[in-house]
Amino acid sequence: MLRYVTTNAGKVREATEYLGDDGVTQFDFDYTEIQSDDLGAIAAHGAREAHREAGEPVLVDDAGLFVEALAGFPGPYSSYVEDTLGVERVWRLAEAEEDRRASFRCVLAYCDGEPFRASPDPIDRDDRAAAAAAGADPNAEEAEPLPVKLFEGAVRGTLVPPRGEGGFGYDPIFEHDGATMAEMSTERKNAVSHRGRALAKFGEWYRERRAVS
Ligand code: IMP
Repeated sequence: MLRYVTTNAGKVREATEYLGDDGVTQFDFDYTEIQSDDLGAIAAHGAREAHREAGEPVLVDDAGLFVEALAGFPGPYSSYVEDTLGVERVWRLAEAEEDRRASFRCVLAYCDGEPFRASPDPIDRDDRAAAAAAGADPNAEEAEPLPVKLFEGAVRGTLVPPRGEGGFGYDPIFEHDGATMAEMSTERKNAVSHRGRALAKFGEWYRERRAVS
């Protein structure tokens, strides 16, 4: 069974709607979020850690809000900023700007402990280089990281005063095509969202992978 690694029930709701037929279950595991400005590196690291913990195929979902006028802030720090400043304060920051364009990005990282042919390259070379630079034992796990495959999705929108009761996180201040993500049903959000786009790519690859294995 594929484990969707998150403590966020909103993400699970969206993933289950998309991957329901393929059998997905929540793995409520708080993986280490390494400090990086690359969502892919954070997700890949989390997927390896979660796979070692679960011993089963895992999918880690790392997402963020990138505000154009704020040089991509809060980006990879979106979770910390939501917890400390809150969504309303992020809107206030954007309100002071003329340009209120923003995007949501999502990276899904898959790891099942098996090698696989993948494109883009599934090996996280940063991890490997960092381990080598730190003088790690070449036989140690972190020097030869598990293969991880990444799937990315993004959606563009505009920041607006909070509207809507659905969704989670920054959804109430993110408008796309006339509606905030918090005003959309899960189905409608999935059809346009960063997560929906990444899940569509993952779903296609995963079905093929299961068919040949
Ligand atoms: P993480 O991927 O769990 O680290 O989430 C990063 C931050 O982005 C958290 O504050 C989430 O609430 C927020 N976030 C992630 N995905 C979404 C989304 O689909 N809509 C709105 N906020 C999101």
